[in-house]
Amino acid sequence: MIRIVSALALGTALLLSAIAVALAQTTPAQIVKERQEGMEHNWTEYFRDISGTMKTASPDLALIATKAAGASENLKKLEQLFPPGTGRDVAPKTRAKPEVWTNRAEFDAAFKNLIDATNTLADAAKKGDVEKVKVQWQATAKACGGCHGGPKKSGGKFRFEEE
Ligand code: HEC
Repeated sequence: MIRIVSALALGTALLLSAIAVALAQTTPAQIVKERQEGMEHNWTEYFRDISGTMKTASPDLALIATKAAGASENLKKLEQLFPPGTGRDVAPKTRAKPEVWTNRAEFDAAFKNLIDATNTLADAAKKGDVEKVKVQWQATAKACGGCHGGPKKSGGKFRFEEE
């Protein structure tokens, strides 16, 4: 019994040190790449499909519910990918402005606003409330604008314009 317990303890210790090594090896450039891809996926994996069906006479509410729920999960992960020390001074490819870190409360609030809007959109779609879905879709699209403009290359409060 003691042997099993200590083997388990050793296993856990090895696993934890493996995780610590993996984290230490994540460079600011890798974090930037991951968050840029994640941001891109907001559009290509989730919101583009919602936008498409919203333009039709009878939007596919089941699709909207699934895509909005997926977007919400993606956004929660993305929120973790803006740690201090990943600005342009160390990672030249990022378009995140220094205000992300100097104005953190506002940045976090803009993120929360988008996640809340996305969740409310998913709920309205699940309930089959098409009028609420229409209103909420506008609110969600507007929430992106809390940090940057619509076109991919545009800048904004928290993003540099593409050079
Ligand atoms: C809380 C602030 C915030 C919100 C809200 C936000 N973004 Fe972003 N987004 C950023 C920042 C900062 C960057 C720049 C990231 C970088 O270059 O490191 C970015 C980058 C992007 C990019 C460019 C990715 C690339 O390859 O350079 C796209 C596309 C994008 N966002 C789409 C969206 C969409 C669509 C929404 C709404 C559903 C949204 N964003 C909402 C902060 C935000």
